[in-house]
Amino acid sequence: MDVFEAVTKRRSIHDFKQEPVDSGILKEIFAAAAWAPTHRMIEPWEIEVIQKEAASSFADLIIDSYLRMGYAEGYEEKKKCKLMEGIKQHILSIPHHALIYMEKDKDLRLYEEDYAAVCAFIQNVQLLAWRYGVGVLWTSNPYIYDAGFASSWGIDPKKHKIVAVLQMGYPNKIPEPKNRTPITNKLKFMNNPIK
Ligand SMILES: Cc1cc2nc3c(=O)[nH]c(=O)nc-3n(C[C@H](O)[C@H](O)[C@H](O)COP(=O)(O)O)c2cc1C
Repeated sequence: MDVFEAVTKRRSIHDFKQEPVDSGILKEIFAAAAWAPTHRMIEPWEIEVIQKEAASSFADLIIDSYLRMGYAEGYEEKKKCKLMEGIKQHILSIPHHALIYMEKDKDLRLYEEDYAAVCAFIQNVQLLAWRYGVGVLWTSNPYIYDAGFASSWGIDPKKHKIVAVLQMGYPNKIPEPKNRTPITNKLKFMNNPIK
């Protein structure tokens, strides 16, 4: 698969098969993704692949976070339980959750450089995974911004930022592409001096 094909044909996957991806393949994906550009060679990405028995406690902490943030407020108890059980079952149906986090630099420029490098790393993961037939959904659900969630998972929110959780597995269904705006609407070649 060439780069053009990977970039244009990759789709975000919402529906995964139960079959797990071999950890050797996951390692190859993350190792190659680490060739992402990184200013000052910080390589700011840290990855925790949550899977198997770990997924249940992960789901419980996500649910605690949603309840703490008031997402189920106004629901009667039975409906709240059903909603949370639905979230738990959905999380458990995904073979791997790669939680990606980074250390926060106090200097905004350095922080943003590192954040950009982690995003480049994540897109590399998506493209490499596609090449192996593995689907990814880049998620940024509200719990990743909840300091209580981070601490309960063992990540110090003062020191670290959770950038994303990548849901990973073999695709059950590949969605239709969502078309992009023609680039001519956004692209300008500036050939003349600014007046
Ligand atoms: C920073 C970032 C956060 C995202 N967070 C979510 C998310 O929380 N849930 C989700 O369903 N998709 C999420 N996506 C995926 C986009 O919805 C997806 O890329 C978009 O719909 C285009 O689909 P495609 O990737 O198949 O082309 C995220 C993408 C990015 C770049």
